[in-house]
Amino acid sequence: MSSCSSPSQSESPAGGAGLLREGTAAERGPRRPAGAQLDAALLVRRAQAADSVVDLIGGTPLVRLYNLEPPGVEVWAKCEFVNPGGSVKDRPALQMIRDAVADGRLTPDKTLIDSTSGNTGVAYSLVGAALGYRVKLVMPANVSAARKQITGAYGTELVFSSELEGSDGAIRLVREIVAREPERYFYPDQYSNESNPRAHYLGTGVELLAALGSRLTHFVTGIGTSGTVMGTGRRLKEHRRADGSQIRVIAVEPDDAFHGLEGLKHMASSMVPAIWRPEACVDEILPMSTDAGWEMTEMLKEAEGLFVGHSAGANVAAALKVARQLSACGQTGCVATVLCDRGDRYFVPLKWERRYEW
Ligand SMILES: Cc1ncc(COP(=O)(O)O)c(C=O)c1O
Repeated sequence: MSSCSSPSQSESPAGGAGLLREGTAAERGPRRPAGAQLDAALLVRRAQAADSVVDLIGGTPLVRLYNLEPPGVEVWAKCEFVNPGGSVKDRPALQMIRDAVADGRLTPDKTLIDSTSGNTGVAYSLVGAALGYRVKLVMPANVSAARKQITGAYGTELVFSSELEGSDGAIRLVREIVAREPERYFYPDQYSNESNPRAHYLGTGVELLAALGSRLTHFVTGIGTSGTVMGTGRRLKEHRRADGSQIRVIAVEPDDAFHGLEGLKHMASSMVPAIWRPEACVDEILPMSTDAGWEMTEMLKEAEGLFVGHSAGANVAAALKVARQLSACGQTGCVATVLCDRGDRYFVPLKWERRYEW
């Protein structure tokens, strides 16, 4: 493979201080001048009136990573942390619930139950509360305290699976619970539910094309359930540029079974989601180290003022790797990726409590 083709699976993972770091934003100096005044037209476009919090899900803004992108290649990040539940998972949670209500799998007498490493649980809890459905979640005992407390705050019932068995242990336990009393539950099973990628097919992919259109050359995002990459990827693959070429879709996978990129899955050592069918739309799988993902999370704060979670850091590290490779070959391009959630979701929070002071 020539050094000026796209990065392949066999290459070393993105990362390493030399590749990514070109000095802090302060050392480099500002590359993009701040606008002198608020852009009123932009504010008005973003201000929305909604009948329900669920109507605020999706339609997230894109931010350009001016201070990190290499010459000649635009890098854009979709701010999924702007969703009301704080993450990309609001989209599939709402779509799975909407589709199940529409075809009668979810009725008011049933409890929605699923396994989740956290963000989908927050999303189910929010949508369940807004639309009036009970929610019960099974999660590994070691997910962040913040996630447990946020879901609990919505009134969701929590069941903990073994922390040694990770997300696969939570999947096994939820299946046991449902098998005991199937009539009591609606089990969306985000790993097998086609409404999960459909949310991104109908939303994320359409939104990226509306915002970037035929400029978009690459889409890069991590695999958890794989809903984001499968749904967005499928929609983007339907798009043809004027010259007939397609957008290249790149999935990001932790490079090791034991990794610290919460939300992402190492497929070879995991239960493979039924919705993960890379042959449908994924051109390439890019392995990513925990160190590179974490380092980029730090850089995003310093260079762009974006405080996001580690899967978002991994996504941006991979997107920049692709962009730098194009730039090094003298090519232009436009790479989009996803900021899945905000960094403060991983803080150990103060307990949510009613406290009155006079
Ligand atoms: C923080 C975070 N990042 C990334 C992902 C992966 O998204 P998807 O499940 O669509 O592959 C998830 C999914 O749970 C997540 O919670």
